[in-house]
Amino acid sequence: MHFSTRCIHGPGPSPDQTGAIATPIYQTATFAHPGVGRSTGFDYTRSVNPTRSSLERTMACVEQGAAAYAFASGMAAIATVLELFAPGDHLVVSADIYGGTHRLFADVSAKNGLAFSRASTAEEITAAITARTVAVFVETPTNPMMRVADIVAAAEAAHAAGALLIVDNTFLTPCFQRPLELGADIVVHSATKYLAGHNDTIAGVVVVADAVLGERVGALRCTLGGALAPFDAWLVERGLKTLAVRMERQAASAAVLARWLRAHPAVREVFYTGLEDHPGHATAERQASGHGAMISFRVADQATAHAVLASVRLIQFAESLGGVESLITYPVTQTHADVPEDARRALGIDETLLRLSVGLEDVRDLVADLDSALGALAGQGRLDQRDQVFQRVQVAGHGGR
Ligand SMILES: Cc1ncc(COP(=O)(O)O)c(C=O)c1O
Repeated sequence: MHFSTRCIHGPGPSPDQTGAIATPIYQTATFAHPGVGRSTGFDYTRSVNPTRSSLERTMACVEQGAAAYAFASGMAAIATVLELFAPGDHLVVSADIYGGTHRLFADVSAKNGLAFSRASTAEEITAAITARTVAVFVETPTNPMMRVADIVAAAEAAHAAGALLIVDNTFLTPCFQRPLELGADIVVHSATKYLAGHNDTIAGVVVVADAVLGERVGALRCTLGGALAPFDAWLVERGLKTLAVRMERQAASAAVLARWLRAHPAVREVFYTGLEDHPGHATAERQASGHGAMISFRVADQATAHAVLASVRLIQFAESLGGVESLITYPVTQTHADVPEDARRALGIDETLLRLSVGLEDVRDLVADLDSALGALAGQGRLDQRDQVFQRVQVAGHGGR
C-alpha cells in the first residue's frame, strides 16, 4: 500500500468489532478482568489502551517499524528512550538540536550519569565514539538551523561501535523521510507537530525497528507513566489521516516562500534544505523525498527581527510548528533559550534568526503577510517580484480562489 493509504488505514482495517470507521475513544482508566489470571489484553490505560494501540499500529506501519509507542509529549518520548541507558553510558548527539532536548540531556540525563559529546558529520560522529558509547542521537534537519545529518552514514558509524542510532524525525515525518529504512534503530517524534498537525494537542511517538527493543520501551513507559491519553491519541490518529496531503501542500508553499524570502532585500540568509545551495541539499535529496515546510531566515538586526514578529498578522508569533496555522518563532528567546549563549552563537542562533513553520494557508496570503511585515513595498521591482511568485503559485496548482 502507498504511504497516504497507510496513513489512513494503517496495516489493515481496524479490529473494532462494531465496524466503527473512526476509532472509538476508550476513555477508561481500567478494564475488568474476565477472571483470575485472565485478561482481555487491556488491564490499565497507563500500559495499554485500545485507542492508543490503534494509533501505534498506524505509526509503526507508516514509519516501517516493528512497533510504536505513543507518549504524552515529544519530551516524554525522548526522556523514556534515554532510560534504556545506564550511568556511565555515553551518547553522541547532533550539535544542533531542539532546545528542550538539549535541556533534557544537560539538566536531567547528565545528572543521571549519562555523558554526551556533540558531533554532526559522520566523520565527527566516528571520532566522538568511545568504548562507552551506546547511542548516536541525530535530529535531521535540525531545529532551527536546518542542518542535515547523513542517516546511512550515522547508522554505519553507530553500528560499527555496537551503538544504536536514534533519529528525531519531527521535521520531515515518515511522509518525506523514513530513518528505520535507512538503518536507524529508533525514531522519535514530537507528534505535537506534523503528525497531529492542528496545533491542538501535545504528543510524542517512539518507533522501533526491533520488537524486543520495543518491549523495553513499552515497559519503561508503563513504569515512568508518560503514555498518551486516549482522547489525545484519537486526535493524533485523526491528524495522521491527512498527513500526506498536508505535508505535500505545506512543503510546496515552503519552497515558494524560501525562494521569495531569499530574493527579499531585508532578508540576509535563508536556511531551507530545498534550496540547491543549502550545504545539506544533496544529502537531503538522497535520503528524503521532500524538504518539509520549515524555513529559518536571518534579517539584518535584532530590531528588524522584533519588527517582523510584531507586524505579522496572519502568521502567529508562537512556539511550535507543523500545524495548519503558520507560526513564526524567535529561537533565541523561545525554543533555544536554554542553550548556553556561547553554544547558541556558535550554531548561529542569534537575535537576527527567525523560524517559520509554513502552514496550510494560501501561500499568496503568507507572502503578503511577510511582505508587509518586512517593510513596505519598495517600488515597482518588488511588486513585479511578488506578482511572479503569485504566478508560480498558480502554475504549481495552489488554486486561484
Ligand atoms: C525536533 C523536536 N523534537 C522534540 C520536541 C519536543 O516535543 P514536545 O513539545 O511535543 O514535547 C520538539 C518540540 O518543539 C521538537 O521541535
